[in-house]
Amino acid sequence: MGSAAHTSDRRLVLGIESSCDETAVALVRGDGTIIAQVIASQEAEHAPYGGVVPEIAARAHAERLAPMIAKVMGDAGTSLDDLDAIAATAGPGLIGGVMVGLVSAKALAMAAGKPLLAVNHLEGHALSPRLADAGLAFPYLLLLVSGGHCQILAVEGVGQYRRLATTIDDALGEAFDKTAKILRLGYPGGPAVERLALEGDPKAVPLPRPLKGSSEPHFSFAGLKSAVLRAVESGAHTPADIAASFQQAAVECLIDRLELALATAGPFPALVVAGGVAANRTVRGALETLAAKHGMRFTAPPLALCTDNAAMIAWAGLERLVLEGEGFTGDPLDFVARPRWPLDPAAEAVRGAGYKA
Ligand code: KG4
Ligand code: ZN
Repeated sequence: MGSAAHTSDRRLVLGIESSCDETAVALVRGDGTIIAQVIASQEAEHAPYGGVVPEIAARAHAERLAPMIAKVMGDAGTSLDDLDAIAATAGPGLIGGVMVGLVSAKALAMAAGKPLLAVNHLEGHALSPRLADAGLAFPYLLLLVSGGHCQILAVEGVGQYRRLATTIDDALGEAFDKTAKILRLGYPGGPAVERLALEGDPKAVPLPRPLKGSSEPHFSFAGLKSAVLRAVESGAHTPADIAASFQQAAVECLIDRLELALATAGPFPALVVAGGVAANRTVRGALETLAAKHGMRFTAPPLALCTDNAAMIAWAGLERLVLEGEGFTGDPLDFVARPRWPLDPAAEAVRGAGYKA
């Protein structure tokens, strides 16, 4: 069922990403070649506040985006005429930043007379493994773990996503970031917790595994974060042991919930992980073991494609061009940026899930 990702498609799509704290532009070809890309992180701007400040993010995107588009087009030696479409993240995310990227894409689309592709950022993450893995066909079981989302999805095709689980409180990336804050490791937290965990004992600190073993399919990480805070306040443990034990508890929750998804909605030929937390090596290792146990192909995008980037947005645009076929003229130029945009609109709202639904 479903075709593998790569073809001899020579179409070119420019992708723009500006939904959080990375400004990114990429030019990708239909055969999966990333022709050129640039990413500008806003880490330095947000670090003093310990998290992303939406107004600062929007202004930084507005300052950087146009020169970055010029750089990518210049590096590739490509003109607007050569493009087949212009794709931009149109949500979900911090709305000021999303508007900067989407409006820029609309202006380019209008000037070039090329289709606009309004891309769901989550769909960018969900399809990014097909950009990296030429043989990955539909369907696959996707663990989408980022700063704002923690979901298990059955990916049945482009635009066909069935949500099997989501978080009832914090996203996993958020739990990593909050743990980093509690341990005073700075921002962004995930990579810092992973580094410190290397020096610690994952069994040293008794931490809860929220919802582990539950017949409810969802995730919960708020209790884990509170337990980390209590462990720090107790003064009984080293920061490295706390980081390692937190990471171990989180990974056990992921595996337990995936086992339940496989038991209730499986089998699937492939297990795929995407989103910023997919950059975590302990998470990847545990998923690889799970996939091997169930005889599934395992695909994780390379680290640079896990965290926010524009190549995945351009790629989602290319997948959309293939899906829509001849005569497709793109999304309307009055497409409105969406702060919320679930991949599976039919999925039930979950208690406390907020914008993560
Ligand atoms: O996908 P992403 O770049 O942005 C969102 O769309 O949210 O994900 C960012 C999240 C942050 O919470 C960050 O701490 C987490 O991914 N992250 C990690 C690692 N690298 C990034 N979490 C754990 N281990 C990592 N190595
Ligand atoms: Zn993301």
